[in-house]
Amino acid sequence: MIEVVQGDITSLQVDAIVNAANNSLLGGGGVDGAIHHAAGPELLEACRLLNGCDTGDAKITLGFNLPARYVIHTVGPIWHGGEQGEPALLESCYRRSFDVALEQGDIRSIAVPGISTGVYGYPGDQAVAIAVRVMRIYEPKFERIVACAFSQEDAARYRQVLEKIL
Ligand code: AR6
Repeated sequence: MIEVVQGDITSLQVDAIVNAANNSLLGGGGVDGAIHHAAGPELLEACRLLNGCDTGDAKITLGFNLPARYVIHTVGPIWHGGEQGEPALLESCYRRSFDVALEQGDIRSIAVPGISTGVYGYPGDQAVAIAVRVMRIYEPKFERIVACAFSQEDAARYRQVLEKIL
């Protein structure tokens, strides 16, 4: 099942949430800042041990003070106009995040934000199309995939694309 939820991903009661991080994995603004704030300082300590993360890849930590047991940190591409491999890298973020979750073995529900659609500037409509395509592929492997939209506009985008495919 794929669900659209509008709101703060740090409040969601799911097994894992995905973080839109940067290559250092040492925190930042946006959803990354919110997740580190809600999880507490132990998350940063855990991230220090991961030695960063390549763009398009994903790494897992515990969720510490979050309701979610795990955080999967992925690094989206910075939008440079779309001709520099951005779509493939964004698709890889979603695939690797779901693969890492499945490898963990005890993650049945997972919430994902709009990776790269904030500071990194990826156009929202194109990002949602990629996100939903990958979610559809992984849907049978999870009980719940939550597309977490921060704005009403982003939530409406997800709903529109999900309805189109159904
Ligand atoms: N819950 C859910 N979604 C959120 C939240 C939240 N609490 N806060 C923001 N969003 P961004 P990026 C949405 O900028 O574009 C960081 O500094 C937001 O509306 O957080 O991948 C990292 O360290 C947008 O749709 O991530 C990197 O340096 C989406 O989350 C850089 O930003 C992603 O926006 C990554 O940029």
